[in-house]
Amino acid sequence: MDRLIVKGGNPLRGSTTISGSKNSALPLMAAAILADSPVTINNIPALRDIHTFSRVIALTGTRVDYAPDEHTIRIDSSNLNRPEAPYELVKRMRASFYMLGALLGREGRARVSLPGGCAWGPRPVDLHIRGMEALGAKIELDQGYVIANAPAGGLPGGSFDLSPSSVGATINFILAAVRARRSSRLGNAAIEPDVVVFCELLQKMGAQISGVGTRTIEVQGVDGLNAVSFSNCPDRIELGTFMIAAAIAGETGVPVRFENAYPEHLGKAFVHAFNETGASFNAGDDFVEVSAPGTLRAVSIDTGIYPGFPTDLQAQWTVLLAATEGNAKIRETIYHDRFKHIPELRRMGVNAIVVGNEVAVEGGNRIQGAQVMSTDLRASVSLVLAGLIAENETSVLRVYHLDRGYENLEGKLSDLGADIRREQYDEWADPE
Ligand code: EPU
Repeated sequence: MDRLIVKGGNPLRGSTTISGSKNSALPLMAAAILADSPVTINNIPALRDIHTFSRVIALTGTRVDYAPDEHTIRIDSSNLNRPEAPYELVKRMRASFYMLGALLGREGRARVSLPGGCAWGPRPVDLHIRGMEALGAKIELDQGYVIANAPAGGLPGGSFDLSPSSVGATINFILAAVRARRSSRLGNAAIEPDVVVFCELLQKMGAQISGVGTRTIEVQGVDGLNAVSFSNCPDRIELGTFMIAAAIAGETGVPVRFENAYPEHLGKAFVHAFNETGASFNAGDDFVEVSAPGTLRAVSIDTGIYPGFPTDLQAQWTVLLAATEGNAKIRETIYHDRFKHIPELRRMGVNAIVVGNEVAVEGGNRIQGAQVMSTDLRASVSLVLAGLIAENETSVLRVYHLDRGYENLEGKLSDLGADIRREQYDEWADPE
C-alpha cells in the first residue's frame, strides 16, 4: 500500500493547475453511453475512480479508450450488449449507479447492483429508484441487484419531485428521461455545477432539456443522440482544497496561483466564508490567486446544497479552523455523520469535538505530525493539509482513498514548495 509522508512547515508559493472535475466526469461518461456513435470528452482527470467507471462501462460491451496522460476519454457504445453493472465494481464506487439511468434510457432494461453503505453512513438510493418508477420503469430487487425494465415501446416518461434534492438522483432521472417516448419533469432538481455541465453535454448531443441550472428540469424525449466532442470543467473541490492549503500554509501576502479554475463553481457560501477568514482571494475567468493573511479568523459554516458550503470541503475547513486563533463550529446538514477525519486529526493535536451533526473546533493548539489513517477521500486530504502545518512528519496511511479523487496531489504540492513524498509500506508489518 502507499502512504504520503509530509514534513510540515514549508511555505507554499508559486502556481499549479487544477485538474478536470471528477464529479462531473463520471456523469459525462454515463451520458456518452446514450449516443449510438463515439463521444469524446477532454479534461478528464487521471484518477482511480475514472479507471473504475471505465471498467464498469466496458463490461457492457462498450468500447472505452481512456488516455489518462492526455486527459481524454472516448466512449463508443455502438456494440453495447450487456446492460449490467456488477456488485464487485459498484461497491468500490457508488457513482457506478449512474448505469441504472443510462442503461434503462438506452436499452430499456438494466441490472445494476445496489451500492450498499459508505464509509460515513448509509447513503440511500431510494430517490434514484423512485425516479425510474415515475418515468414508467418496472423495478424489482433481486439478490442485491436492481432490475429495471421499460414497458414495450420504451419508457413513457413522467414527473417526479426530489426530497431532499440529490445530485445523483437528478443525474439518473435525466439519463433515463432523455430518450423516453414523451416529456418528463423533475422538481427540486440539483443545481450543482456538475449537473449543469452534464446537461450541457446532453444538449450538445441533441437532448431536449430545459430549466438547466434551475430547480425544475423538463425533458422532451428524443429518438437518438449524436456523437460529439466536449470539454469537462475544472474540479471545484480540488480548487477549494488548494485554496485552503494556501490560506493555512502560504506566506503572508504572497499569492499562490491556481490555473484552470472556475471560482464561480465554488458557490457563494464558500467564497464568503473564505473571505471572512481574512485570506485574500483574487479571481479571474479561469484562475484564482490566494494570499494567506497574517492571522486567520475562525469562521463557522453550515454545509448545504449548492450554492451552499460544499460538504466535500467540510473536512478541509476543520483544518483551517484549527490553524486560527479562535473557536468555530461546522454543522453538517447533508451527511450528518461525515466526521471520520476527526479522531485522526485529534491524534495530531487538533482540538475538535463532535456533538450530533456539529463539530466544534478550538484553534491555536500545537499541531504535531503523527501516523494517521485515511478513511475516505475528503478525510484523507484533510490529514495531508494538517501535515502541511504540523511540526515534524505526518504519515498518511491508506492513500488509495485519496487517489480516487486527487490527481497527483503530492506532485502539485511539491511544485508549490511542500515537503511531501509517496512511499510503499506493509500495513501488517510489526514496528521496527
Ligand atoms: N439522498 C437520499 N436518497 C437518495 C439519494 C440521496 O435520501 O436516493 C440524500 C443523501 O443521503 C444526502 C442528500 O440526499 O443526504 C444529498 O446526496 P446526493 O444524492 O446529492 O449525493 P450523491 O449524488 O450521492 C454527490 C457527490 C458527493 C457529494 C454529494 C453532495 C458524486 C459522484 N458524488 O453524491 O461527492 O458529497 O453529491 O454534494 O458526484 C466526494 O466527491 O467526495 C463525494 C462524496
